[in-house]
Amino acid sequence: MREPNETDNSHPPHRPLFGPAATTVFRVSLAGMALLAIGSAYASYEYYHSSYWHSLGLARGQPVLFSHRHHAQELGIDCRYCHASVQTAAFAGMPSTHTCMTCHSQIFTDTPMLKPVVDSARSGQPLRWTRVNSLPDHVYFDHGIHVAKGIGCTSCHGSVGKMALIAKGQPLTMRWCLDCHRDPAPHLRPEEEIFSLSWTPPSDQPRRGRELMAHYGIERSHLTNCSTCHR
Ligand code: HEC
Ligand code: HEC
Ligand code: HEC
Ligand code: HEC
Ligand code: HEC
Repeated sequence: MREPNETDNSHPPHRPLFGPAATTVFRVSLAGMALLAIGSAYASYEYYHSSYWHSLGLARGQPVLFSHRHHAQELGIDCRYCHASVQTAAFAGMPSTHTCMTCHSQIFTDTPMLKPVVDSARSGQPLRWTRVNSLPDHVYFDHGIHVAKGIGCTSCHGSVGKMALIAKGQPLTMRWCLDCHRDPAPHLRPEEEIFSLSWTPPSDQPRRGRELMAHYGIERSHLTNCSTCHR
């Protein structure tokens, strides 16, 4: 121990570089680092094999573990940023690698999870996303008309904002289409809610639904004709 008034530093007392205490500290931290490494390997194993990525048994294998929960819900990126033709065309549109790279040429670039995206940008080979929702060829479907007439994404695709990998949110059977085509009013939303991930019908939906039927000029009579969906 030094005396409080000891000010002469030119001859520090000789001490071994690592005393017994330091050796113990060193051993403990080595053990700690080993545990930490095992712990974080385990944590990331758990994370990528957890219910977060497999929350719905139906989620399909995808070339990249792309999460709608991160991108659409938490980061708040608008659906139309990646599904650009959903408002105007039958087909919603899928993002090109370039769309991903507008952000990922800057952020998260060295995660192994992003490697397929970076490879695709280098090689020019597009990513091949596995289809989740698909109707047989003999059925005609159009996104644009539904979006224009007050049907929101989550009414047909479920809680996309909670999904890591996308799974089918609704059965997409003929009966399911017809249930809504007979009476769309309970599902209708105002324009500003179409892309909302959290919309639920308000308690006065019966009144609002009737008003929105008139507002959008929805004509029900032909909606159940075979030729509407089988052309
Ligand atoms: C940053 C880009 C991005 C944004 C933003 C985005 N998506 Fe996607 N979306 C993708 C990619 C990539 C896929 C393909 C991978 C998959 O199916 O999970 C996809 C797939 C889907 C699918 C399944 C397509 C199929 O094969 O049937 C639906 C449904 C969907 N998105 C809905 C939405 C909705 C609703 C929003 C807005 C709330 C949204 N997406 C926002 C990139 C995006
Ligand atoms: C507007 C910016 C933006 C766009 C566009 C974007 N991302 Fe991301 N992405 C991010 C950010 C920010 C994170 C980090 C999220 C976090 O950890 O909170 C991220 C994380 C990721 C991850 C790591 C896993 C995860 O979800 O944490 C993957 C994989 C990924 N993005 C793939 C893609 C793909 C594929 C596309 C194109 C379809 C894309 N991203 C488009 C901003 C973007
Ligand atoms: C009325 C129901 C309905 C609504 C509303 C709806 N979708 Fe879809 N979506 C479908 C069906 C059905 C398919 C499969 C289409 C097919 O196989 O031809 C599909 C397919 C998709 C696909 C795959 C690409 C494609 O077009 O086939 C994406 C992406 C998608 N929807 C995104 C969205 C987004 C984003 C919204 C909201 C702006 C939305 N959808 C609103 C029923 C709907
Ligand atoms: C949640 C409600 C809802 C669901 C589910 C739904 N639709 Fe629709 N659909 C509508 C509404 C509302 C319109 C617009 C009616 C109008 O033109 O005023 C529409 C219009 C259409 C049209 C255009 C009709 C025209 O005027 O030419 C087609 C085609 C169609 N739907 C096919 C389908 C198919 C196929 C499915 C199932 C895969 C489906 N819809 C599921 C509500 C729905
Ligand atoms: C609102 C859209 C819609 C209307 C209207 C509609 N269908 Fe369909 N139909 C579908 C969809 C979606 C499928 C494919 C999914 C399925 O098989 O349930 C389908 C499938 C079928 C199939 C094939 C069934 C199978 O097992 O492969 C037949 C046959 C059929 N429809 C006949 C009709 C007839 C007849 C009418 C008129 C009375 C009609 N549909 C009206 C949407 C519609």
